Formats: sequence, structure tokens, C-alpha cells
Amino acid sequence: MSTSPEPIRPKSSAFSRYLFVLLFGLVLGAVAAVMLLNAWKARQDPFPESLMHVQGWHMKQLGTKASENRCAATDIIPHLKALRVTADDLETAFPDESDDERFRKHASAMRATLDEAQANPPINCDGVNAAAAKIGENCKACHQDFKG
Ligand code: HEC
Repeated sequence: MSTSPEPIRPKSSAFSRYLFVLLFGLVLGAVAAVMLLNAWKARQDPFPESLMHVQGWHMKQLGTKASENRCAATDIIPHLKALRVTADDLETAFPDESDDERFRKHASAMRATLDEAQANPPINCDGVNAAAAKIGENCKACHQDFKG
């Protein structure tokens, strides 16, 4: 009678100690995970994706203008200019990728296309579509090698 509680007490206290260590470990793990996630988020640079979205926006504008039959120089050239200026930042935006010669070639090819489009600006909407298609090829070429 008197010996029966004896083996139970150490067992249950060992169990609660293990449980405590387990829970403590879980909490510590969760805290560490949150801290790591925050650090990772803070380190992520918004610039490269922003640059891409700005270029995407200007490309879309070219398509919209052409579909609306607004293809005067004043409609089109600002977007070509914006694409050309932002194309100068491709290497800065993707410092790791720009170590690769293929990346630098794709960036140069895009700048060359845009220089040509500005030197011989499209005079009608067919020309705008053709210029946009050429620029789009440059986007695609780089994305095939470096995106995703
Ligand atoms: C020289 C290389 C290069 C060129 C040229 C280029 N891009 Fe990109 N682009 C990238 C890379 C690399 C990514 C992947 C970015 C990432 O997810 O980290 C990307 C991603 C994107 C994205 C997705 C952004 C996101 O939310 O992740 C869009 C949109 C985009 N590019 C649009 C364009 C357009 C439009 C052009 C042409 C006018 C273009 N890009 C030209 C390298 C390039």
C-alpha cells in the first residue's frame, strides 16, 4: 500500500521535465524561426523586382498606345526613353547575375535595341508594335537564362 505511490512520482516528474524541455524547445524554435524570417525579409532588396515592374509597365504602355492608335512621337518616345534609362540599371539591380557574361550581353542587347528605336523612332502603330516586339525579345532572352 505505502510503496505504490513511490514509483509513480519520479516517473511523472520526469515526464513533466521532458515535456517542459520539449515545449521550451518548440518555443525557442518558433522564436528563432520568426527572427530568421525577419532578417531574411529585411535583407531582400526590393530594387530588382521594382525595376522589372517599371519596365513591364512601360512595355504595357507601348502595347496600349498602339492598340488605341496613339502612336505619335510624344506618345511613344517617353516610354522608349524610360526603358532605355532603366536598362542602364540592369547590372546594378542584379549584381550576382551580372557576374555572368551572358547577363551582361542580354543587358547590352536590350540597350542596343532601345538606342536603335530612339535613333529611328516608329512613325506609326505598326512601327510601335514592331519595336515593342523587338524589345520583348530582349526581355525574353534574358529571362530564359536568368529568371526563375
Ligand atoms: C539582362 C536581363 C534582363 C532583362 C533584359 C530583362 N529582365 Fe526582367 N527579369 C530579370 C531577372 C533576373 C528576373 C528575376 C527577378 C527575381 O525574381 O529575382 C526578372 C524578372 C522580371 C519580372 C518579374 C518580377 C517579379 O515580380 O519577380 C518582370 C515583370 C520582368 N522581369 C519584366 C521585364 C521586362 C518587361 C523586360 C524588358 C523590357 C525585362 N524584364 C528585361 C532579368 C532581365
